[in-house]
Amino acid sequence: MQVHATIADVRAARAAMGVQRVAVVPTMGNLHAGHISLMRQARDHADVVIATIFVNRLQFKPGEDFEKYPRTFAADCAQLEAAGVDHLFAPDEAEMYPQLQTYYVEPPPEQAKILDGEFRPGHFRGMATVVLKLLQITQPHAALFGKKDYQQLMVIRNMVADFNLPVKVIGGETVRADDGLALSSRNGYLSAAERLEAPRLFQVITQVAAAVRAGNRDYTQFEQDAMAQLQAHGWLPEYVALRKKLDLQFAPAHESGLVVLAAARLGSTRLIDNLEV
Ligand code: PAF
Repeated sequence: MQVHATIADVRAARAAMGVQRVAVVPTMGNLHAGHISLMRQARDHADVVIATIFVNRLQFKPGEDFEKYPRTFAADCAQLEAAGVDHLFAPDEAEMYPQLQTYYVEPPPEQAKILDGEFRPGHFRGMATVVLKLLQITQPHAALFGKKDYQQLMVIRNMVADFNLPVKVIGGETVRADDGLALSSRNGYLSAAERLEAPRLFQVITQVAAAVRAGNRDYTQFEQDAMAQLQAHGWLPEYVALRKKLDLQFAPAHESGLVVLAAARLGSTRLIDNLEV
């Protein structure tokens, strides 16, 4: 695997790829089986796979975990090598933001200020801005993102469509631990007791999805019950919401094509999860 720390270097490598098909998998590192599954899927769409690792300050709000976000570069490189990734672009902040970023991607409020965007103001703006930069730098035919960050995937799809980027956006299925917990770099923050409790988030959204599948249409009640259940077990739920898959807008009771999304804090760790119905 070739490792590139500079934009000039990865651009030169990209130019040398010529007519080959290229897929990129952007990450913030601290890779787990979910990321590696995206790397392997990328191979189905391309001759050359580029991974990126960059912990993007712009998508963290003050007081979030930017400083403590786990940085495990050597272990990440070993995993990427083993997964057969061809190139890694791993710039530092000075390379990505040599001066303060002056232009931003501003996703529309109906996409970026709901759900996670309500609780993490500015997150999707910072995320979309860096993703646009990474796509401009690596010029891929395909880009892969995990469905665990469902709203992120929706924002990226819309950005790519609105800016006519010649990139196919592919969503990879969430990879889970045996007990159902969605794999996430933030799981590493959980204490042993919290780790035992953490699968409840998936259990709760599974119950909501099952109730909808059973034909029950009292969505507000499901959402409230799910939040209450989390609260009763010591969580601080932010939202449990049934939305339309396509645009994450409210789902009138007759809609099909739904997804249940949830975010909740367990101790000091914020976990998110979702399940397509
Ligand atoms: O999902 C992530 O790891 C990040 O939000 C991304 C897409 C790499 C942008 O920083």
